[in-house]
Amino acid sequence: MAFELKYRKDISQLQSDAAHSTDLKRTLGPMNLINLGIGAIIGAGLFSLTGIAAAEHAGPAVSLSFVLAALGCAFAGLCYAEFAAMIPVAGSAYTYAYATLGETLAWVIGWDLVLEYAVGASTVAVSWSAYLAKFLAYFNVHLPTALSMSYWQTPPELAAQGSYGIINLPAVFIVFAVSLLLIRGIQESARANAIVVFLKVAVVIIFIGLGFAYINADNYTPFIPENTGSFGHFGWSGVIKAAGMVFFAFIGFDAVSTAAQEAKNPQKDMPIGILGSLVICTILYVLFSTVMTGVANYTDFKGAAAPVAVAIEKMGITWLGPAINLAIIAGYSSVILVMLLGQSRVFFTMSKDGLLPKLFSDSHPKFKTPWKSNILFAFVVSLFAGFAPIALVGEMTSVGTLFAFVVVCAAVLMLRYKEPNRERPFKTPLVPLVPILGILSCGALLVSLCVSDWMHAARLFVWLGIGQVIYVMYSKKHSKIRAAKA
Ligand code: ALA
Repeated sequence: MAFELKYRKDISQLQSDAAHSTDLKRTLGPMNLINLGIGAIIGAGLFSLTGIAAAEHAGPAVSLSFVLAALGCAFAGLCYAEFAAMIPVAGSAYTYAYATLGETLAWVIGWDLVLEYAVGASTVAVSWSAYLAKFLAYFNVHLPTALSMSYWQTPPELAAQGSYGIINLPAVFIVFAVSLLLIRGIQESARANAIVVFLKVAVVIIFIGLGFAYINADNYTPFIPENTGSFGHFGWSGVIKAAGMVFFAFIGFDAVSTAAQEAKNPQKDMPIGILGSLVICTILYVLFSTVMTGVANYTDFKGAAAPVAVAIEKMGITWLGPAINLAIIAGYSSVILVMLLGQSRVFFTMSKDGLLPKLFSDSHPKFKTPWKSNILFAFVVSLFAGFAPIALVGEMTSVGTLFAFVVVCAAVLMLRYKEPNRERPFKTPLVPLVPILGILSCGALLVSLCVSDWMHAARLFVWLGIGQVIYVMYSKKHSKIRAAKA
């Protein structure tokens, strides 16, 4: 692959192209960017995985797992901030790789990001649908099984009665609704996102504030339950396994970087958006998980379909249930929004570079959004959410994201040695320590996910293999940089 380094993007050229590009509208300020980050971050990871991770892997030490996962994200976040300020292009990790590691690896990362953004959006859309069903059930409205879940999601008790899911219609609906908003405009999307972020952060703070009074300190003993004899089942290995699991809850801060071409002052505001949203969510997560495992015993969450509801039941505050449910429904919509935004922006850049067909970078003349790409992904993501065995691929979002984080950390390191004097509006501190710790910690989380299910690694390789076929058959032949250097 060494010769492929010849096909690298020139950073000065990238900066100048981004500064003069008028395809996308520059309207986002620092607060919009922090909101986009929080919009993408707080979602299924916090509300669904905290209880499972505590019950099956870490016990009350799940709060420690959140700290460990946050550390890995902080190292990666600092590296993303350096790149996003220096190369404020919608391609994010894909473009950073293009400028440092060459076209082949850039393609690998761009293709890999589909796992983070498109597959992530599908996974969260399916969770959204489950919480909508729960919310409607408060009002005695029950959706028919056939239309509210895919065949693969049918629970055994319904299958025993001969009642099977066919299509997850609510998941399809939310994907289309969010896509239409994205087509309408970045400013409109950012505004809707800000309302949702306000609502979900308020509910998380209310949960923490009210729950504090109901903490029973006995629930914290033992803090790290003894390992049962197998890797990942309590003990320190359980804390690490849970960290790999709750890593999903942090995914999204990096998506801020895909809005770089829509930021008014990316050099200054990108680091604020990426790191600000990460810090705010880390504080909320650690407090939230501490309260959750203090109010109820970690064993109470075992097998619970809605772990947060278990904690609320312990508190006995009945109105909090539907309020949290509503915030979750709204909150998941913003996760889907930012994921789909990220997906379309990465493919936008790949298309501009000639590696994907032009339709992905066709910008709407009035709305200034990549509308054709938004429509295409609305179909692809909703088909997946509507019919696919989503439980099988859910963790692939984390696997794909961690892979991208490792590459971005390595790319920061490489560029520091190759171009030490290049102007960097934001500098990752303590280089080479921070990028190396980013590679090691994200690498360790990646390995912990793949060790517990080797199929994750197999799926990643198959996915990247499919990508390589497309790269050789199409992208290499249409690459603009190859044409220019021929
Ligand atoms: N961080 C996002 C979530 O937890 C992906 O839903």
